[in-house]
Amino acid sequence: MDIHDDKILILDFGSQTTQLIARRVRESQVYCEIHPFNMGLDKIKSFGAKGIILSGGPACVLDEGSPTCDREVLKLNIPVLGICYGMQLMTHLLGGEVERSAKREYGKAQLLIDSAEDLFFGLDGSGEGQGEQVWMSHGDKIKKPPSGFIALAHSGNSPVAAMRHADAELYGVQFHPEVIHTPNGNKMLQNFLFRACGCRPTWTMKSFVNTTVESLRNTIGSKKVICALSGGVDSSVVAMLLHKAVGHQSTCIFVNNGLLRQGEAEEVQNIFRHTFEINLDYVDGADAFLSRLKGVTDPEAKRKIIGNLFIEIFEEEASKIPGAEYLAQGTLYPDVIESVSFKGPSATIKTHHNVGGLPEVMNLELIEPLRELFKDEVRKVGAELGLPKKLIHRHPFPGPGLAIRILGEVTPEKLEILRQADAIIMEEMESSGLHDQVWQAFAVLLPVRTVGVMGDERTYDQVVAIRIVESVDAMTADWARLDYQVLGQMSNRIINEVKGVNRVVYDISSKPPSTIEWE
Ligand code: XMP
Repeated sequence: MDIHDDKILILDFGSQTTQLIARRVRESQVYCEIHPFNMGLDKIKSFGAKGIILSGGPACVLDEGSPTCDREVLKLNIPVLGICYGMQLMTHLLGGEVERSAKREYGKAQLLIDSAEDLFFGLDGSGEGQGEQVWMSHGDKIKKPPSGFIALAHSGNSPVAAMRHADAELYGVQFHPEVIHTPNGNKMLQNFLFRACGCRPTWTMKSFVNTTVESLRNTIGSKKVICALSGGVDSSVVAMLLHKAVGHQSTCIFVNNGLLRQGEAEEVQNIFRHTFEINLDYVDGADAFLSRLKGVTDPEAKRKIIGNLFIEIFEEEASKIPGAEYLAQGTLYPDVIESVSFKGPSATIKTHHNVGGLPEVMNLELIEPLRELFKDEVRKVGAELGLPKKLIHRHPFPGPGLAIRILGEVTPEKLEILRQADAIIMEEMESSGLHDQVWQAFAVLLPVRTVGVMGDERTYDQVVAIRIVESVDAMTADWARLDYQVLGQMSNRIINEVKGVNRVVYDISSKPPSTIEWE
């Protein structure tokens, strides 16, 4: 049985939580894909889903030009679950009535279950007016379900908060089962997946590894493949998969740009070359990068220099591997989704350098074994493949590295200061158990000096800013409300242990309007 046999199609109507729906489905070990709401009927049919989920979305079905799908989608004899906007659309398309509400219902609500079957099987929220806690975020609501539909639950504000067709497997919920504020939402989604659609839980990371290794073997055959290893979790997992699939036909190229964190270059070599005996081509480019960065202060100029030099060095190294035909890269599913959701301003705020530009210039065929995975799944695959926990749970680290965390010119002295401060922050994050609870934590070296006093001496030294953020996808982020004790400890240690720093500040800006990195 293939891991993709039982799969769910999610049609995206622009909700902020569409990816969350997909992650919940995957966590229930059912494969799913997100496609735009206007996916053609033929494509939908040939996709071969066992069930379809219509996501929420910001529009109103009564408005002209609001996103819709072919009515036939509801007549394919494939179970359909409409969530919020998806439910309203189902109602609208099948002749029910959707009513505009003057007031938006947003937040926690109590769901009173009228029928503890179907979606609500196994939930006892029907008793004593207690109900199930659910998360609502909608303006419009169902005034009259389409004919043949029955209400499954109501709430104070929504007489039809959940419904189903009496005979067909068509379901709708007004609330969002995918968010954590609906504590039993997973159970409801699973009732849809397993009871209504009859899916089997075949999507496990163990089976993903087996399937992927086999398909990599088939694709690569007896050819050679190159992997651009950065030491981050995505490229590390790619390296491990390739090694498992084709052993020494694969070579990892790891370019040390001199802008890495403390001990990182040694660690990567240790893990890959020594622990896993992977073919590792290590290039020490530190001097070359630093000399090109000399005197450069503009953030975008730094990024361009680093990106271009990386490609130059990488190409040169790759040309020393005769017969290489493939380049493997750690593209993840969120980069692949043709999402219709709001993705932030389209103007280039920062050019994000990664290995994206490589395949075009190198005439190699691209292999992207992680294209189907969300980040949390990549981490599970990493664990499955035996990568150390520390590496698997690494925070994201930008391609231009510490260069964009040193405001102004990058020099070896400033790099040393930043490395030490950053290492202290990471140590404190780990020892306080907070590391895995935040998106990123790091130090930024500011281009200012301030006055301080140490012993009887006046000091005139540099300032380090601590940046710690919470985020789900880096598109938006909030500064972490970290325990003052932990922050205090970081500050004390940085000022006492890092020579050249006499002041530490905490960055309390959210994204937007700030960004996560300072440059
Ligand atoms: P910003 O600073 O744009 O960062 O809020 C969002 C996420 O992207 C990372 N980032 C980069 N990653 N090259 C990268 O590969 C870059 O130039 C770059 N700039 C920012 C940042 O660390 C955060 O996770």
